[in-house]
Amino acid sequence: MLGVHNSIKETVKEAIFHTLGECRNKTLALFEGMDEGNFRYQAHPDFSPIGWHLGHIAYTESLWLLEHSAGFPPLFPQYRKLFAANGLPKSKRVNLPSVEEVRYYLDNIRSRVLKYLEIADLEQQERLWRFLIQHESQHCETIAFIQHLIANQNFNDFTSTLSGYQPNLKNINDVDTLISSEAIKIPAGEFERGCDRLDYLDNEAPANNVYIETYYIDKYPVICGHYRQFMEAGGYQNSQWWSEEAWEWLQTEEVTKPLYWQDDSMWDNHPVCGVSYYEAAAYAKFVGKRLPTEAEWEKAARWDAKAKHSRIYPWGDRIPTKQDCNYDNLNGKTTPVQAYPSGQSAYGLYDTLGNVWEWTATWFHAYEGFENYPYVGYSTTYFDQKHRVLKGGSWATRPWVLRCSFRNWYHPGVRQILAGFRCAKSDNSD
Ligand code: AVJ
Ligand code: FE
Repeated sequence: MLGVHNSIKETVKEAIFHTLGECRNKTLALFEGMDEGNFRYQAHPDFSPIGWHLGHIAYTESLWLLEHSAGFPPLFPQYRKLFAANGLPKSKRVNLPSVEEVRYYLDNIRSRVLKYLEIADLEQQERLWRFLIQHESQHCETIAFIQHLIANQNFNDFTSTLSGYQPNLKNINDVDTLISSEAIKIPAGEFERGCDRLDYLDNEAPANNVYIETYYIDKYPVICGHYRQFMEAGGYQNSQWWSEEAWEWLQTEEVTKPLYWQDDSMWDNHPVCGVSYYEAAAYAKFVGKRLPTEAEWEKAARWDAKAKHSRIYPWGDRIPTKQDCNYDNLNGKTTPVQAYPSGQSAYGLYDTLGNVWEWTATWFHAYEGFENYPYVGYSTTYFDQKHRVLKGGSWATRPWVLRCSFRNWYHPGVRQILAGFRCAKSDNSD
């Protein structure tokens, strides 16, 4: 392995070595028993087949660590066009090598990468190695939700998917009473958003203070039991709740319910999952509320007003465990929104991290003083007023990208990601 721990440098190296392995094991676990058909199946035109994501993980690692850092010539040049992010349109990514060949590619690159790690100068390169762990984590989540999407297309029933860890909650699916949709008051004031850590992504930096007027934000994400009331009131048939753009989208896509909707009251206290930004905004209007801005969401999730300090996680800076929230694909599905009391924020919000991503009203944008890393296109391409920010992570989010400052982004019409939302309201809103 990596020899004796004789310096801080060695400790960072060991930590990266360990994390690379842990992250990879989680990625590969998703491919156990995978058949060739699903490996190359394009479940939706907006997303590549899961086999492509696996090859792209190896390609990206090879490009940044072996070519750019270690100075290797291009390895596996036959895969460059196929697995580069800008190589082929998504519909052409179905012509993949076999599962075995892609696995060979992955293993071959990884063993060279670990050899290089032994001599790499981590004082110069720590950020890059940390970036690659986060890159793999994100593609790993995409693989997980595409698998969920395929299961949805085949069975439309998730009641029997993974049954791993279940939170310790009495009557977990007891829905005689719907949990209340109470709102929490967040007093006016400044808070610090974003984060400057070396192991975080470019778009989170630089950390900066923002002042927000008093507002209210829901204690829980919107649950299926409440969303059903919107559906039963004809919410999808009545243009009054929808913006012009949203109504046009709804008609074109012929949308009548959330993508992952389960017509069974046992899900009533689970967050609604599989909605677009348009559906989230329509529901909020229906109940006389609105979506929170990203800053409102982030303040409610991580600001500790007493200590005047922004936490990394809602509960503090201690790394997450399975008692804190539903993440890391431990359940393979959503959990009731009140299931994790230890995951509450200082203001008392539940379920901000894990379970479902939450749409915000904010366009993805750069903080003042933003500097792109490791390449211009990682975030900057998406600062285009066409992508809305999502916060908090889902049940499939890996620990390395689960935190309050993390910023996800998608087009407002996307529903395949594991997204729901919570509502907010201004103090004196009309
Ligand atoms: C931030 C999740 C939208 O998957 O397209 C992966 C992350 N960027 N490779 C995506 C990303 C480059 C990105 N999302
Ligand atoms: Fe990528």
